[in-house]
Amino acid sequence: MTSLPIPELCDLSLDTITAHEGRVSVFAGPDAPLPRLTRHADKLTRGAVTRALNSPAFAKLKPGDALTLAWPTGMAAEALQIIHMPKRVTPEALRRAGLSIGKLQTRSAMLICANTLPLGEMLRAALLRAYQYEAQKSDPKPGFGPTRVMVKSPETAAPAIAEATALASAVHLTRDLVNAPANVLTTTTFADQIKGMEALGLKVEILDEPELEKLGMRALLAVGQGSDSPSKVAVMHWQGAEGAPLAVVGKGVMFDTGGISLKPGAGMEEMTMDMGGAAVTVGLMQALATRKARANVVGLVGLVENMPDARAQRPGDVIKSMKGDMIEVINTDAEGRLVLADVLWYAQERFKPSAVIDLATLTGAIIIALGHEKAGVFANDDALADAFLKAAADVGEGAWRMPLDPAYHTLIKSRIADIKNTGGRPAGSITAAEFLHCFIKPGTPWMHLDIAGVALTKSDSAHAPKGASGWGVLALDALIRARFEDR
Ligand code: BES
Ligand code: MN
Ligand code: ZN
Repeated sequence: MTSLPIPELCDLSLDTITAHEGRVSVFAGPDAPLPRLTRHADKLTRGAVTRALNSPAFAKLKPGDALTLAWPTGMAAEALQIIHMPKRVTPEALRRAGLSIGKLQTRSAMLICANTLPLGEMLRAALLRAYQYEAQKSDPKPGFGPTRVMVKSPETAAPAIAEATALASAVHLTRDLVNAPANVLTTTTFADQIKGMEALGLKVEILDEPELEKLGMRALLAVGQGSDSPSKVAVMHWQGAEGAPLAVVGKGVMFDTGGISLKPGAGMEEMTMDMGGAAVTVGLMQALATRKARANVVGLVGLVENMPDARAQRPGDVIKSMKGDMIEVINTDAEGRLVLADVLWYAQERFKPSAVIDLATLTGAIIIALGHEKAGVFANDDALADAFLKAAADVGEGAWRMPLDPAYHTLIKSRIADIKNTGGRPAGSITAAEFLHCFIKPGTPWMHLDIAGVALTKSDSAHAPKGASGWGVLALDALIRARFEDR
């Protein structure tokens, strides 16, 4: 797993800047006199900083972007990074600055001369961008060099660092889980890892197959019955406040072959990310516990593996959900909704939640609709959806509202049972959402996030190197702060 380069705070000292042997980051704007620490670097380098500042290259930089001078004279550093920071400091500029820093994070020690700049946004962005997944290399790189942040007043800056670190390490956890291959992260090893989170103060329960059978979760069990890995449901409870909890439910298909409705071979290896919804749920629960959120939140994940096998379910099978509705399985590759149907129902029956949010890499159709930029947001409650869209925009995670409408139900009506698990190609992500809707009790505010397009990126993005993105941890944490947390 990734070791997070947790930053340390240090007092202002010009000598430290002179003698630092790794990388040094300073800030400068074209529209203002040089800040004190930057002026020192300029003096040491005999005006190299000023010359860089006046160069056409610097003029092209957006706020937060940077120029790097290698082996600057007069300093012990191997590199001096000059970050464009205008006089009017904006959260966007700070975030970009963090990304500039994180992108260059290496094994050498880092010194960030922040002085009085606000740290939270910047450090969080730096930590997010600095992620790398090394767990499957024979010779994993031993992580990052130490990071020091030079600030005017370490005591006042400390909480911002603690919070940035808590959130970034939660996102890193989600990415580690999504990046992990399916032979390493099985239903059992995932459940064990979740159980280990009790150390953070979470209450964790793992329900095994006999218990799920007793609860009547036949829809979930049907998906996993072709696999040697036992199906499980994990329940994580963070009770930081009284009152009815918010329930967050994640799809945890450890690997999705499609089952008997087997997927084509090309690209199938990507289906190791089909537990992305569960990974975000787990990352979020870690974030809430480490920052001791004053909210009552229960996270539930359904862990299964969808395999073709003699015991696997067939297209045409009819299964009984925990709710009691009979489901005709038209396509065994539409398995996520079967898992969620039972976990959603269980969450409502047991916890009587004030609201329910589910996350799932549910449909290829959402990728056709929204590409890899935005997740699909489906909700029966406008206030909940609006609050989420705002939270997502604030943290820079893409999200877009999609429709729910009873009109789509005709597409998933079954001839022989109550409901069928696919509605054909038209509106594939909407019929999937409407399927889930059938398992939401009337009057319960509910939001479904289809993250199939955003859980994994094929090239480096602003916030992350290519691979698992951790999309959703920050937005949901921000939503909980705004709407579900006592102040
Ligand atoms: N896990 C897939 C959805 C998916 C596709 C996630 C691509 C990430 C990238 C899901 O279980 C699935 O197979 N959905 C089918 C549903 C269809 C059979 C109705 C799909 O989208 O093709
Ligand atoms: Mn599938
Ligand atoms: Zn799937």
